[in-house]
Amino acid sequence: MDQNPYHVPVMAKEVVELLRPIEPTLVIDATYGGGGHARALLAAFPNLSLIAIDQDPDAIAQGPGDERVRLIQANFTSLDRIAAEICGGTLDGAPVPPCIDGVVFDLGVSSHQLDEPERGFSYRRRGPVDMRMDRDAELGAAAIVNEWPVDDIADILWRYGEERMARRIARAIVAARPISDTAHLSDVVKEAVPAPARRRKHPARKVFQAIRIAVNDELDSLESGLEAAIGWARPGGRVLVISYHSLEDRIVKRRFAAGTAGCECPPDFPVCICGRVAELRSPVRKPLRASEVEVAANPRARSAILRVAEKVGA
Ligand SMILES: C[S@@+](CC[C@H](N)C(=O)[O-])C[C@H]1O[C@@H](n2cnc3c(N)ncnc32)[C@H](O)[C@@H]1O
Repeated sequence: MDQNPYHVPVMAKEVVELLRPIEPTLVIDATYGGGGHARALLAAFPNLSLIAIDQDPDAIAQGPGDERVRLIQANFTSLDRIAAEICGGTLDGAPVPPCIDGVVFDLGVSSHQLDEPERGFSYRRRGPVDMRMDRDAELGAAAIVNEWPVDDIADILWRYGEERMARRIARAIVAARPISDTAHLSDVVKEAVPAPARRRKHPARKVFQAIRIAVNDELDSLESGLEAAIGWARPGGRVLVISYHSLEDRIVKRRFAAGTAGCECPPDFPVCICGRVAELRSPVRKPLRASEVEVAANPRARSAILRVAEKVGA
């Protein structure tokens, strides 16, 4: 297993095996991170050209130094523009056939982002309340915890953290202002929840997840990146997504399900009159999970769920 201290890749073997049948020569790694998936793909497919995207300059800075890779610091919300350019788009707007063999999304944050206290992602380390993957982005977590109204904070804790005590925690955050750092935020959350909730998982876990999702607009970004990936996958091309929590996975599951749905006419119609044809098919019966061996070696793989869809067409 690739043991890069920046980030140990999750389900790298599965990613390679899901792309192997289509013998890819042009793949977009939409979440380059520590480059673990990128390295696995480059090793498996010698003729591969890899477009590697990450919005975090730290990820781009430790790029692979491999001439088959083009690194792009960008949010994958720009995938539409990037893929259009790769597939040969011109300024006159003439239609361009989709050309990408595979797109890989490995969502969430890298171990490097979590482990660096000054990035402010971890409830276990003292650092600034930041949580921006893109350090040029305007919204940092400090603005949310120190400036937002209590209702808006409660809303994100509920929607993005599925936190049952959202309102109670939001009130405690507002009462404790100014929140000085991540350790302070973590303590405020711990104090706000009743004792039994403190005995289960760390009570700040969901709160940090929720704030991080809001800061990085993660769910809207996923919807738009996924749409672009499906749009620019060539017929027979595959889109792979590794999610780490149910909010992400639901978006992927629904989008793939919508794409694989074909004709919606009642079964007793002799011919299809709705004209709807599936744009995707599922090359595997069920989503994949990391093996027990991998989870034992890399606990981060425990919650990973890998979905794949293949573009249909001539
Ligand atoms: C889980 S890590 C990827 C790890 C990588 N697959 C590897 O094997 O090393 C997720 C990476 O995606 C990046 N990322 C997350 N959301 C992004 C987005 N919307 N646009 C661009 N990069 C994003 C993060 O900055 C982070 O570096």
